[in-house]
Amino acid sequence: MADYILVLDEGTTSTRAMLFARDGVLAASAQKDLTQHYPKGGWVEHDAAEIWEKTLACANEVIPKVGGAAMIAAIGITNQRETVIAWDKETGEPLSRAIVWQDRRTEPLCIELRQAGHEADVQKRTGLLLDPYFSGTKMRWMMDNVPEVRAAAQQGTLAFGTVESWLVFNLTGGEHITDASNASRTLLMDLSGAQFDEGLCDLIGVPHAALAKVVDMSGALAHTQPALFGRAIPITGLVGDQQAATVGQACLSPGQTKATYGTGAFVLTNQGDTIPRSANRLLGTVLTQINGERTYAIEGSVFVAGSLVKWLRDSLGIVESASQTEELARSVTDTGGVTIVPALAGLGAPHWRAEARGLISGLSFATGKAELARAALEAMAHQTHDLAQAFAADGTSWETLRIDGGMAANSWMSQDLADMLDVPVERPDFVETTALGAAMLAASGAGLYPDLKTAAEAMRGQLTRFDPHLDDSARSARLERWAKALAAA
Ligand code: G3P
Repeated sequence: MADYILVLDEGTTSTRAMLFARDGVLAASAQKDLTQHYPKGGWVEHDAAEIWEKTLACANEVIPKVGGAAMIAAIGITNQRETVIAWDKETGEPLSRAIVWQDRRTEPLCIELRQAGHEADVQKRTGLLLDPYFSGTKMRWMMDNVPEVRAAAQQGTLAFGTVESWLVFNLTGGEHITDASNASRTLLMDLSGAQFDEGLCDLIGVPHAALAKVVDMSGALAHTQPALFGRAIPITGLVGDQQAATVGQACLSPGQTKATYGTGAFVLTNQGDTIPRSANRLLGTVLTQINGERTYAIEGSVFVAGSLVKWLRDSLGIVESASQTEELARSVTDTGGVTIVPALAGLGAPHWRAEARGLISGLSFATGKAELARAALEAMAHQTHDLAQAFAADGTSWETLRIDGGMAANSWMSQDLADMLDVPVERPDFVETTALGAAMLAASGAGLYPDLKTAAEAMRGQLTRFDPHLDDSARSARLERWAKALAAA
């Protein structure tokens, strides 16, 4: 019986295929790292062909483990958001490297648009700010700087898409769709509009005709071409990874909040069917769209989380593995005054300082690996605390924070978050909630469950809870140290 959900989880640093049983238990998984290209300071690119080839290879690796394609009821796709791919609809070939969400090259264009006075209106309509993070200005950059993209636009064969759109195009052999959660990260869709908006496209300089049709994130969305896996498998879930994690944490009622610590850290609070309006530089975004009906979230996006630990490991060689940071952090009682501001890709919410750069302060001859590792983990709670204040100022205080993502496996960091935020932190035993959320959406979209809420109840696993213990004076001292370092970054 076709009982498994195949999730394709295409993240920033790796792509994975994961098979979930109907009850949410992981049956098999395969993962491949993605090459990161850094052609210039502040530029981050991916090879779109590599994304597709490695995703397909991962799918082909896991499918035989449960008895072949006949056992797959549906596919759910989740992805790094905002990253832009341009391809030719006729040849199916990418026209340039993908520009990744972390890429800052469009800052001059964002400044120009801000100086021309467009930010307030853009924020009101899209929920977003004029920051290089979002897809629209990356598309415009390709139009201005990549002759192949411009030529395809003139010939009417240009397709622009985020990563889920590119994967669907390849899986189906030519369908050009995007889901509403991904579309809401482009600057090109009004949060109250069903499709991409021509006025916003004209403002940013993106040809409307090159954009995909915006669809639901759960339901009968498309089918894979039969030749790929030996049969046409329905694609019934399509969702940006942070929205997927919010669903995977069952934050399906207004006020419920999750924080995912992956490459970056992303906090989303469910706002129900009310379009969020932040006065504190947080983002409004589509959380779900099912049967054309939307719910929204308010989001705080922090650009550097797990990537800081990766940098400590790969560039500085301070740790051999990410998990070693926990043992190092526990081996000392404090950082000895060391503070890390992880602005390696500028600062995201709530500061939005694209020009800021990272900083390590308070170094002394007593500083060793342990202090640096602990300071790196402390930075996660500091950044999250800044978001908590902005959310509270917007009227959305957190009662509990549900955390997930690879870094959340670190129990020292989980406890530190509870201590610094002064709220209980809940961590599911299975921290890959992004993939699980995509599985829930695909399972309900395929009719395995009557609705998303029932799917979430049936597929969600056990939790571990971390209660706050830190006294107020210790918390204030830490926050003061952080505020000083932040001001210097
Ligand atoms: O907005 C960027 C986000 O979707 C990237 O997620 O999991 O690759 O850190 P991740």
